[in-house]
Amino acid sequence: MGSTPGPQEDTLAAFEAARGFMPLAEGLALHAAATEAARLELPLLEIGSYCGRSTLLLADAARRAGTVVVTVDHHRGSEEQQPGWEYHDPELVAPDGDGRMDTLPFFRRTLAAAGLEDHVVAVVGRSPQAAAALGGGGGGRYGLVFVDGGHTDEHAAADYVSWVPQLAEGGLLVIHDVFPDPADGGQAPFRIWRRALDSGAFAEHARCDSLRVLRRTGPGC
Ligand SMILES: C[S@@+](CC[C@H](N)C(=O)[O-])C[C@H]1O[C@@H](n2cnc3c(N)ncnc32)[C@H](O)[C@@H]1O
Repeated sequence: MGSTPGPQEDTLAAFEAARGFMPLAEGLALHAAATEAARLELPLLEIGSYCGRSTLLLADAARRAGTVVVTVDHHRGSEEQQPGWEYHDPELVAPDGDGRMDTLPFFRRTLAAAGLEDHVVAVVGRSPQAAAALGGGGGGRYGLVFVDGGHTDEHAAADYVSWVPQLAEGGLLVIHDVFPDPADGGQAPFRIWRRALDSGAFAEHARCDSLRVLRRTGPGC
């Protein structure tokens, strides 16, 4: 992955300025995977847009390849981002008084400021419903599937069964927050990473810290 071109300088600056949870090294690994996958000339898919931090890098790679990134989020935050939880950011609570989070305005501003809006199709909704509505089931629709949505077993497994069947042969499955040791973090992303490898349809392609990249080598999942 080292020989792929990195993100544009202004994209990198926007990434570093954006709210989000992805460290730079993992972001560069995500961008390298996106650049590689974009050679298939298919759209890239992200689950978990949040405020656009990782979307920026996918969009940068998509722009270079002449494709787009489709990114899905209900923009109400994951369990661990709700008030009282570890990753809550009070500035992301909607100002309209219902107390719920709304990351969509932040997401839009992030993409607009970086000049990348034209390379992003943002889907606002729940991941499994979005997958069903956008075509469901069939293979070959996306060159890359990046899973960084809900981190419970329920949500990670639903993301897996909803979107991974839509990943093209030769495409890349990228999973964030894969922690083999439970002492380092929740196990749901690790379990879907294991599930992909155990299916026999994927081979390990790259890894950087908790970011894992698998290549689809055959049908199924
Ligand atoms: C960890 S954050 C994504 C971080 C982002 N990829 C980044 O690096 O900046 C997870 C996001 O997934 C979204 N999410 C969680 N469960 C979801 C679901 N079932 N459907 C759609 N979005 C979901 C949350 O709203 C949250 O914005």
